Amino acid sequence: MNITCIGCGYVGLVVGTCLADQGHKVLCIDSDTKKINKLKKGILPIYEPGLGEILNRNVKEGRQSFSTSLARGTETGEVIFIAVGTPMGVNHDADVSAVFTVAEKIGRHMRDYKIVVVKSTVPVGTASEVTRLIKNNQKQTVDFDVVSNPEFLREGTAVKDFLEPDRVIVGLDSPKPQLRHIMETLYRGITHTERPLLFTTTKSAELIKYASNAMLATRVSFINEIAGLCEKVGANIKEVAAGVGLDSRIGTRFLEAGAGYGGSCLPKDVKALTRIMKKYGLKSEIIEAVDKVNEEHKLMPVKKIKTLLPNLKGKRVAVWGLAFKPGTDDMREAPSLTVIKELQKAGAKIRAYDPVAEANAKTLLKHVTFSYDPYDTLKGCHALIILTEWNEFRELDKKKIKELLKEPNVIDGRNIYEPEEMRRLGFNYLSIGRS
Ligand SMILES: NC(=O)c1ccc[n+]([C@@H]2O[C@H](COP(=O)([O-])OP(=O)(O)OC[C@H]3O[C@@H](n4cnc5c(N)ncnc54)[C@H](O)[C@@H]3O)[C@@H](O)[C@H]2O)c1
Repeated sequence: MNITCIGCGYVGLVVGTCLADQGHKVLCIDSDTKKINKLKKGILPIYEPGLGEILNRNVKEGRQSFSTSLARGTETGEVIFIAVGTPMGVNHDADVSAVFTVAEKIGRHMRDYKIVVVKSTVPVGTASEVTRLIKNNQKQTVDFDVVSNPEFLREGTAVKDFLEPDRVIVGLDSPKPQLRHIMETLYRGITHTERPLLFTTTKSAELIKYASNAMLATRVSFINEIAGLCEKVGANIKEVAAGVGLDSRIGTRFLEAGAGYGGSCLPKDVKALTRIMKKYGLKSEIIEAVDKVNEEHKLMPVKKIKTLLPNLKGKRVAVWGLAFKPGTDDMREAPSLTVIKELQKAGAKIRAYDPVAEANAKTLLKHVTFSYDPYDTLKGCHALIILTEWNEFRELDKKKIKELLKEPNVIDGRNIYEPEEMRRLGFNYLSIGRS
């Protein structure tokens, strides 16, 4: 099939590249000229393991190309994916203006039948609005269908997640058998095994995405609350989570206690869902509490460091890990931003290290000294705070860490080290949910 993918971010680029790899001919569009120029030169504008090799192979074999021209994308694509950003807007509503702008332009340039697939995470009713905007902007009446096909990939494992999803959700309101057939064909390479493709209405599909993210966020906030209790009573959250997760009704994933969730999805989607509930006159008490607990937990490392260094004025603090999770350079809503700004407010000087997120972090943080390696970060620091569980931090030489730190204070916001070992080595070690 000829496919157009609008938006070359973490989602659009993965979707476009993986579909090209399945044998489709894919034109990737973005309004950001710099991004498109980079892509044309084979340079990936984001860090996503494994993506660059597949992309370059597809480009070389003529299945994937890039452009800033939405007119061209609308003309060539039989199926047009909209994968532009929907960031947090005013009052925490999802800002869907980019989706609507794209819909209007597709309408304007449409000359023959198209399937327009909304991949972006959007509030319930957006597919209907996209349909209306396309219709209103058409110069001549042309048939088309709008499909809601939310994406569940995770940054850091995005390629695998797209190619091996737990499920593919296809929301459509049209009864046309041909439309179903095309969507099934599009995903055949992915869902040919036991992976289910679930057809729903567009509204259900839109809500499935928000409900899924809210559920994941709920698990994180829930386990973080239990972690607080573990600290009080002398239990170990890792043992508790393992025991709870072994219940097949619950499962083990997303039960890791830490310094809160961040990223481009959970925080904004949880907030947007509360706004959607309000719009329909409903209370969203659980979801609001999840958000509130998370905001508090992001500050947990700051609270903990203050128990070791009550006066942070003039103290130097090393921060390992800035990205919101390992495997990505995405800094959107990363807990490190909250922690570092709070430490700076208390007068601390920050030295920081992240293996891939430094460039993005530099655009968001001020007065931070960035280091070229984790050990260098520690020099002369009164404490180390770990905020992203990059694998490279797990096996570092702890004796060397102690030697380099001015005072052996370690706040482990991701529970990557063992409390017993750290104390035996002479660290003042505080982690989450392990007294
Ligand atoms: N990042 C994730 O892990 C993830 C996972 C699942 C779903 N989503 C959802 O997918 C959507 C995209 O997320 P993302 O992380 O890829 O965003 P992103 O910010 O990384 O990328 C969005 C891209 O869209 C481009 N764009 C914006 N307006 C445009 C326009 N009018 N025309 C053409 N291009 C335009 C931007 O230049 C940017 O390159 C969001 O709705 C997000 O909630 C994200």
